[in-house]
Amino acid sequence: MQLEIRAVATQSDMDDALSVRRAVFIEEQQVSEDEEIDQHDRDGGWLGDVVQMTGYIDGKPVVTGRLMAESAPEADAHIGRVAVLKELRGKGYGKQLMLALHEQARKRGFRRLTLGAQLHAIPFYESLGYMASGDVFLDAGIEHRRMDLQL
Ligand code: COA
Repeated sequence: MQLEIRAVATQSDMDDALSVRRAVFIEEQQVSEDEEIDQHDRDGGWLGDVVQMTGYIDGKPVVTGRLMAESAPEADAHIGRVAVLKELRGKGYGKQLMLALHEQARKRGFRRLTLGAQLHAIPFYESLGYMASGDVFLDAGIEHRRMDLQL
């Protein structure tokens, strides 16, 4: 089925993105709402220096992720909050969303992307060219490793 990907531009779009993140991170992975939802997600924070994108199937939000400038010297931007509804994984939707985020990064002149990958997701990001480095660290109680991609 055709995935329609668009950038969050209104509160209603943001609610769609959050509906996916609530299902995946808060309900499925038991991340607390306080840790999951931050200033880039509420009170119009999505209008700032962040690109949030959501993919829809037949008008239903099924995949989301966000990109923001990174302050670390060895990276230009950070990708995070990548989630696909459980019943729709393995169909290429996560990859399509990541490629849309990469396109947004290129448009903004970001070349060095970084992210914190949950250990189970490392092969997913590797399939997009990311390479893992450094030690395992905990974020929201979940084990992660840093991964980087040069666009
Ligand atoms: N192990 C090995 N390979 C995997 C994989 C896994 N667990 N998940 C995806 N891949 C590979 C696919 O085989 C595919 O490879 P290909 O391009 O060579 O065919 C590629 O990654 C793209 O897969 P895709 O179908 O687009 O992945 P997805 O839509 O299932 O999305 C996640 C992947 C990680 C976003 C999804 O599993 C998810 O939302 N998980 C829960 C939330 C989460 O953990 N998010 C990541 C936080 S860091």
